[in-house]
Amino acid sequence: MCEVGAGTGNFLSLFSGRAGWLLAADLTPGMLLEGRRRFDDVTAVCSDGFRLPFKSGSIDLVATAQTLHHIYEPVPFLKELRRVARPGGRVLIVDQVVPESLEKATVRHELEVLRDPSHAATRPASAFRIVLRAAGLEIIDERVVDSQSSLSKWMWPGEFPAERIAEVRDFIERYGDQTGMDWQRSGDDWSYVRHRMMLLARP
Ligand SMILES: C[S@@+](CC[C@H](N)C(=O)[O-])C[C@H]1O[C@@H](n2cnc3c(N)ncnc32)[C@H](O)[C@@H]1O
Repeated sequence: MCEVGAGTGNFLSLFSGRAGWLLAADLTPGMLLEGRRRFDDVTAVCSDGFRLPFKSGSIDLVATAQTLHHIYEPVPFLKELRRVARPGGRVLIVDQVVPESLEKATVRHELEVLRDPSHAATRPASAFRIVLRAAGLEIIDERVVDSQSSLSKWMWPGEFPAERIAEVRDFIERYGDQTGMDWQRSGDDWSYVRHRMMLLARP
């Protein structure tokens, strides 16, 4: 299998011992190097998901997790994933999902960009379905998985500058109830609900 936008391999490593060959494709060499250090059964390939260096129809399972929200043009990106998937194979998409309400999606987008300026798009379930179909993928299963998390895990000190964490805290205090994330104060921290969508498709 191959994960496109594999980063340091968190998601790909879930398939360790299950998939015959774990290929990590990512634009950022530093992420791949860290992934190789953490997982010795991963083959790292530094490449852009829009132009993968693999033969058409060569990979059983092509996945992308938590990466599509960094992609402004999802249809060509997904078409490239479809190209390298073998006929009868699968394409698996995992990403954060927002409510269908345009107001909530807009406030949520502001919060995401404030946290991470490389955040490109905030999509509800309907947008994922539309872009997968536009890329020629047939959805065969989908589900939304909710889990509890916290601001301190979403923005850990050391990785995020203190001023940015303070700005996000301030945003949550003022507009948190409009983000669809169910922010709740928890001592000095904030808890929230992560909504992640998984879509399994065939090329
Ligand atoms: C939020 S990380 C997700 C990492 C991993 N999939 C996980 O779930 O832990 C997003 C990754 O997408 C990569 N990325 C962004 N645009 C890309 C592109 N066009 N082609 C390949 N990788 C890309 C980034 O370098 C980053 O490692």
